[in-house]
Amino acid sequence: MSDSTKSGPAEVTLAAGDKNVVLPVQYPTLGAPCIDVARLPKETGCFTYDPGFTATASCKSAITYIDGDQGVLLYRGYPIEQLAEQSSFLEVAYLLMNGELPDRNEFAKFEHEVTHHTMMHERLKNFFQGFQYDAHPMAMLAATVASLSAFYHDTLDLEDPEQRRLAAIRLLAKMPTLAAAAYRYSIGWPIRFPRNNLDYVNRFLHMMFEVPSEPLEMNPVVAKALDLLFILHADHEQNASTSTVRLVGSTGANPYASVAAGITALWGPAHGGANEAVLKMLAEIGTPDKVDAAVARAKDKNDSFRLMGFGHRVYKNFDPRAKIIREMTHKVLGELGIDDPLLEVAMKLEEAALKDDYFVQRKLYPNVDFYSGIIYKALKIPTEMFTVMFAIGRTAGWVAHWLEQQVDPENKIGRPRQIYTGAATRDYVAIDRR
Ligand code: ACO
Repeated sequence: MSDSTKSGPAEVTLAAGDKNVVLPVQYPTLGAPCIDVARLPKETGCFTYDPGFTATASCKSAITYIDGDQGVLLYRGYPIEQLAEQSSFLEVAYLLMNGELPDRNEFAKFEHEVTHHTMMHERLKNFFQGFQYDAHPMAMLAATVASLSAFYHDTLDLEDPEQRRLAAIRLLAKMPTLAAAAYRYSIGWPIRFPRNNLDYVNRFLHMMFEVPSEPLEMNPVVAKALDLLFILHADHEQNASTSTVRLVGSTGANPYASVAAGITALWGPAHGGANEAVLKMLAEIGTPDKVDAAVARAKDKNDSFRLMGFGHRVYKNFDPRAKIIREMTHKVLGELGIDDPLLEVAMKLEEAALKDDYFVQRKLYPNVDFYSGIIYKALKIPTEMFTVMFAIGRTAGWVAHWLEQQVDPENKIGRPRQIYTGAATRDYVAIDRR
């Protein structure tokens, strides 16, 4: 892991015309130092330009660390590989929100609390009924999560740490209930109540798949795989959806509104929507012999087609989550006795891309979404629900970041600048003279 910190200049000097501006350098615990440009406009009259924030840190955070060159991901300092092997999603959620792993008592209390906040208000069902049966479940999830602020408006004093904590617990607890309700509504099945005698993941599976006519066989392989996927999706520092949660949160908006905004950001195919797009792409490719043609299309700059599940803004090496999921995919398909032809297409695609110069030079490796769709499919999760599954796991990170932001003394309303490219000042012309 590169620890480029500590040694380096305390400040850098920027020559701006005939003026030298001294800018302080801030050093993280791990990772690259950052030049603090906050005083630049005052001293030079210039702003900085960085579309997509590729070179800009927007906040300080102690939650997650990524080394994209080395393929390292740490939650609160713990390597993702160790958490994936030894922890559970709910324990990881506690870790992200509180900073330390819980002892037995702390975990039991946390689990009890999450379990007892899983119910949704009966009136929330009316929201689902307002949707067409074929509405996308991400649309339903975003709308119903935002509507939680209307149900809990009496506990939204953001100055009160207990009310903030309670909102975070509610979001974590209710997300699977709302997600399963969105699915059941879309297929015309009655919405199920959460069963408190089950753990977090099995409770979700029960709400998704239980039917009144026969008992639901709970498969431990399925529950374990889903728990692992939630762990891997739980946080990824300042990704687009988490940055959205923080941007909305920076205005003082309530956590339900902030997280609903994060859900909508996650939906895009360049972000969490990629897992759904991967499966559609694999189905379109259809058979391994068509893989080379798909790779050629992805390289063609006149064609907008991209290999979904490849490339990442931060990882310029194998996404460590993709490595874990790749192994898990084979195990799950083996244990469930599933022979999925799409996996063959995926393997061939991975192999072809990894040895193709275009992908090698641009450091485009499979990302977390490349395999997650195949596992979800094996677990009988419908394709439109893939991004919803991501949202359930990522809720742990969203609420952890929102909680951290609320006590950050440097928190300011997020308000970027722009390079204006429109018309210069001009006079209004009456309509009959235009
Ligand atoms: N297929 C083909 N070419 C690609 C791909 C791809 N999947 N990804 C990037 N490239 C190419 C670009 O065309 C560009 O080529 P150029 O240098 O010749 O112009 C170069 O690689 C760099 O790509 P950018 O788009 O500049 O990289 P950026 O960091 O902005 O984008 C992103 C990252 C959005 C993830 C991109 O790789 C992509 O669209 N991937 C497919 C969608 C996907 O899998 N998203 C999930 C991301 S992970 C997550 O959110 C959980």
